[in-house]
Amino acid sequence: MLNCRRRLFGRFASLALIGLLALPVAALGQEQIGHAQQAIAHDGMVVAQEGTAARIGVDILQRGGNAVDAAVAVGFALAVSYPRAGNLGGGGFMVIHLADGRNTAIDYRETAPQAITDKSFLDANGNADPQKSRNSALAIGVPGTVAGLALAEEKYGSGRFTLADLIAPAVALARDGIVLTGQTLAPAPFDPSRLRRWPSSAKIFFKPDGSAFAPGDRLIQADLANSLDVIAKGGPQAFYQGPIAQRIAAAVQAAGGIMTADDLKIYRAIERTPVHGTYRGYDIVSMPPPSSGGIELIEMLNILEGYDLAHDDQAQELFLMIEAMKRAYADRALYLGDPDEVQNPVTRLTSKDYAAKWRATIDPVRATPASAIHAGGIIEPEGRNTTHFSVVDRFGNAVANTYTLNFIYGLGMVADGTGILLNNELDDFAAKPDSPNAFGLTGYKANAPGPGKRPLSSMTPTIVLKDGKPFIVTGSPGGSRITTAVLQVIVNVIDRGMDIADAVSAPRVHDQWVPDQVFAEPGLPENVLTALRARGDKIVPQRPFTSANSIMITPGAFVGAADPREGGALAVGY
Ligand code: GLY
Repeated sequence: MLNCRRRLFGRFASLALIGLLALPVAALGQEQIGHAQQAIAHDGMVVAQEGTAARIGVDILQRGGNAVDAAVAVGFALAVSYPRAGNLGGGGFMVIHLADGRNTAIDYRETAPQAITDKSFLDANGNADPQKSRNSALAIGVPGTVAGLALAEEKYGSGRFTLADLIAPAVALARDGIVLTGQTLAPAPFDPSRLRRWPSSAKIFFKPDGSAFAPGDRLIQADLANSLDVIAKGGPQAFYQGPIAQRIAAAVQAAGGIMTADDLKIYRAIERTPVHGTYRGYDIVSMPPPSSGGIELIEMLNILEGYDLAHDDQAQELFLMIEAMKRAYADRALYLGDPDEVQNPVTRLTSKDYAAKWRATIDPVRATPASAIHAGGIIEPEGRNTTHFSVVDRFGNAVANTYTLNFIYGLGMVADGTGILLNNELDDFAAKPDSPNAFGLTGYKANAPGPGKRPLSSMTPTIVLKDGKPFIVTGSPGGSRITTAVLQVIVNVIDRGMDIADAVSAPRVHDQWVPDQVFAEPGLPENVLTALRARGDKIVPQRPFTSANSIMITPGAFVGAADPREGGALAVGY
């Protein structure tokens, strides 16, 4: 198995821009990880990246709503209060556990416009052109968020609220304005010129004289309030077929993109069967393709189940996780893509037998030399680009939702007159075999761009069940690092016996097979890093940028943990 991969990977070019990745943590701002803010409640809980939106969700729960009602209200509210990632102009995934025992998943990933081809993101020489896939209007996928949230509400809401009821708090926030904190707008290292270069965005996200807003200023988003109001009154079709759709298509085309009003009209959110695995007696329910996350997560857990992590020292535990990560990410690159376009080998990749075969290739004291198997890649240093929230209610329902614009503020472009920021999600396609996306992830034919196709994602909203009931609700932003963040939260709880706040706060490592490096957050003991280096791992310090806002359901209480990495996240319940 490994040999097949070696053959493939031997063709790769040498690692590009390794210097960027190897920057010492100090050069990246020395962000030490604090401890998760924790909340304990008995009747309902929301943990989200921004406090006003989290409180809106809890209000819905207190008014008799279920976790889906609350999640939908949080999803619309974050589009206003956390505009760098909360969105109407992007897409995402929602994994739902219902009190009656069913599990389901809503796929509202963006789709490629019909005019996309497998050459759309290539330059004149046939090479992948990141300018096109990351910084141009060609990168904009047809937004899925409005359809996804509406579908979730229609099928699994409590029936106590209309969609308009759940959008109303977001309308008020946009119309009355939000008071900005240091966290709300553009945290370093975000480059504000990504927003400033679009006049339609600059007039909203900068002061009239062009200067930046400061903490304490009020951000009013009048056009966004109108768009939300139109959706509240007309439902999702008012977004996909009315004046909003026309404005989005016109703005994209004026900026050189190819999305049409028809692309918006034919967009559909899709309900899918979650991927399911088991880990030491717990059930793992996570997002299927077009996310790679659920499959990779289950694959890694299956590999790790063969080891006694609870009794390994921390270095050995991390070492084995890193070896599992490499192998799962290699499979991601080779096999996975939009399930409506390619045959994903889900059963095989999530089987215990397959994991056992991978385990047999792991030397327990020596890192598998990725130098023979790596491709070159640039990893986008901005990770605060996606956002995850977790919700539970008193009825036994749970929601894990992750959604995104891809980069911080996506393309940075507001469709003029709508207040809606548009994504640059199509960079998640493999523009060309072996050419890495912004997160350094490579891919092949399965994830090639194509009309109507959904680019492969790493978003991993996940619900862990114990005896059939929700035990952990988790997920994270962080591009390629999402799935390994979720893995470590789960292993920290199940194998290391941590409470959820400690499990979320503990420094994380990440290996994505390519490049041949282990990214380590600040705070790991030096002796652990030394031990990993001795086994052959190439450790690269990494600024923390995942944010696994999680809930653990303990007997008699919900315990929420707001990840401390980004600041501003809130766990709140009642
Ligand atoms: N755009 C990041 C992801 O979906 O994985």
